[in-house]
Amino acid sequence: MPQIIHERPEHAALIEPLLDRCFGPDRFNKTAYKVRENITPLPELSFVTVEGDTLLATIRYWPVMIGGKTPALLLGPIAVEPELQGKGIGVALMRETIRVATEQGHQLIVLVGDPEYYGQFGFQNAAVLGFEMPGPVEKHRLLVKECAPGTLENVSGIIAGVADISSFPGRTAFETETDEMMARLAAFTPPTDA
Ligand SMILES: CC(C)(COP(=O)(O)OP(=O)(O)OC[C@H]1O[C@@H](n2cnc3c(N)ncnc32)[C@H](O)[C@@H]1OP(=O)(O)O)[C@@H](O)C(=O)NCCC(=O)NCCS
Repeated sequence: MPQIIHERPEHAALIEPLLDRCFGPDRFNKTAYKVRENITPLPELSFVTVEGDTLLATIRYWPVMIGGKTPALLLGPIAVEPELQGKGIGVALMRETIRVATEQGHQLIVLVGDPEYYGQFGFQNAAVLGFEMPGPVEKHRLLVKECAPGTLENVSGIIAGVADISSFPGRTAFETETDEMMARLAAFTPPTDA
């Protein structure tokens, strides 16, 4: 039974060949890759679908800023092993990770993709709202979703990567949770040798 889990370091060597199989080597020329050039995906929002040791799918989210002032997530790539596509793996991965991103306090998610597929998750055209990518992109494929109602109001501008994520909104919540967990562990009395 497929499981969605956080991406681990050992998955990286399986993810790149999967992306090659799904998108081909030309993928690095896409504008979305240019945005991601000097930034890293958020580890708490990098997920894979696995079945045992087999990697079935990958999804990553990157920290970006819209118009220099509104933090958002750039979703992508999402890829499902070609012979397993059309079985619901992509939908499950999208739904679960959007749920986690929303829970972590993120407000907007942007991506470049097919509106026919991403519309079902609440994505809408971002170009008509004044969103721009720092390079060529088909305008009807630039999409945005608000995680909480009203968060799209007065947001527009160029989408740019955020290199320093120490104060990135969703991260703060994640780090607070980590601190709480560490505090609970510190309060836990380790078992003594009998
Ligand atoms: C796009 C992708 C992630 C979807 O994952 P998946 O597991 O194949 O999709 P699901 O099984 O969850 O959903 C299948 C449904 O989505 C539809 N769908 C899949 N890709 C679509 C697309 N590009 N445009 C419109 N509909 C699409 C299917 O027709 C199917 O519809 P149905 O349930 O009415 O028959 C996957 O097909 C993939 O990795 N494709 C290659 C890489 C890619 O294009 N990634 C997205 C970049 S924008």
